[in-house]
Amino acid sequence: MRAVDIIIKKREHLELSSNELKEFLHGYLKGDVTDYQMSAFLMAVFLNGLSDNELKVLTETMRDSGDLIHLEGVERFLIDKHSTGGVGDKTSIALAPLLSTFGIGTAKMSGKGLGHTGGTLDKFDAIPGFKFPASEEEMVKSIDHSGIGIMGQTEDIVPLDKKLYALRDVTGTVDSYPLIASSIMSKKLAVRSDGIILDVKVGDGAFMKTLENAQTLANIMRDIGSMFNRKVHIVLSGMEQPLGNAIGNGLEVYEAVESLKGNGPKDFEELITTITGIALVQKGDVKTIEEGINMAIEKLHSGEAVTALRDFVADCHGDASYIEQPEKFLTAKYKFELKAEESGCISQLKAESVGTAGMLLGAGRETKDDIIDHAVGIVLEKKVGDKVNIGDTLAVLHYNNENDKFKQSLALLQSAYVISNSNIETPKVILDIQ
Ligand code: URA
Repeated sequence: MRAVDIIIKKREHLELSSNELKEFLHGYLKGDVTDYQMSAFLMAVFLNGLSDNELKVLTETMRDSGDLIHLEGVERFLIDKHSTGGVGDKTSIALAPLLSTFGIGTAKMSGKGLGHTGGTLDKFDAIPGFKFPASEEEMVKSIDHSGIGIMGQTEDIVPLDKKLYALRDVTGTVDSYPLIASSIMSKKLAVRSDGIILDVKVGDGAFMKTLENAQTLANIMRDIGSMFNRKVHIVLSGMEQPLGNAIGNGLEVYEAVESLKGNGPKDFEELITTITGIALVQKGDVKTIEEGINMAIEKLHSGEAVTALRDFVADCHGDASYIEQPEKFLTAKYKFELKAEESGCISQLKAESVGTAGMLLGAGRETKDDIIDHAVGIVLEKKVGDKVNIGDTLAVLHYNNENDKFKQSLALLQSAYVISNSNIETPKVILDIQ
């Protein structure tokens, strides 16, 4: 069938056969189907959706378009945790070592951040010398030793997703449930794991702004998991305000390490212990998530997980003294305390504005070629539900340049806080578990 006929069929709400869709996608990979034809097809999918079989074929073809990571020889139960991205989301840095203390390995690919959300890759880069495992062999060694197998995305894994994502980004077709779900799941399916946990963020700082939208995405991803016989649990977690207190790469690693000693912010602790509880259920060590959560809380207060993180960093040629003395991350030249200008209770702390304020200081990228400053960022001292008096410190900006961008960052951070006269409850971080 000609490419144009495939596009017309999709436009007319007719279902494509497995062969038609596969041929079209392979044609695109080979260069026989052009970018403008694929753009038209993606828009037709955006408008008309995909049938279950089309969703399965698209996901499978993306998964099989590159290398698969089999992790042969790894004996640990393996979890792949994925977050849809948010502000202050340093979950993987603390979760992987915590899971390791229960004999659970982590096998996942991580990406760079763009815009107001950060990426795990950039956070580990704050550790001098650190280089992610570059091959499957190195990843196997790392999982065997520290329990942690996190690698950067390479050109050789799901290249079709990479090509399609770049096109979606410039054709207004990113925000499509089946395209997001298949894109995320193709990457999960390309890496061997025994359980997948998807942390779907909901709110101002996330892709999914409402619980309803997040639930729709979660359902499609779970359906894809079932199509490929993979165990998938989904956590819907709040992203109206940032997760934890630290935003910025070195600052977030600092907070993750402190959390592994039981000194972390409560919302962050709740998220990592809940995901650990789910992982323990998937492994079969406990019957209920609550049992698993209690075990995870105990582990956090023992400090044992710091050793796993230190071992992973050392195996990846990083300076492990940063994990032993995380205050080494606190190297920004200047600090500025943002003070409350009125008394009351914090009713909003807009995550996207805080993320963008961090980016303006240099903690994130506006365009994909921007260079990150790993020392800078924001530490929140007050969050939603906290009471404040005039003059109390709301947040501390860590920065290296007193330039216009610093001034813009400060103004944006100030506008992110809304103070109300009435009492506001501390928002829940875990909104639902499925
Ligand atoms: N993350 C992905 O990996 N793919 C999408 O399409 C959106 C977010």
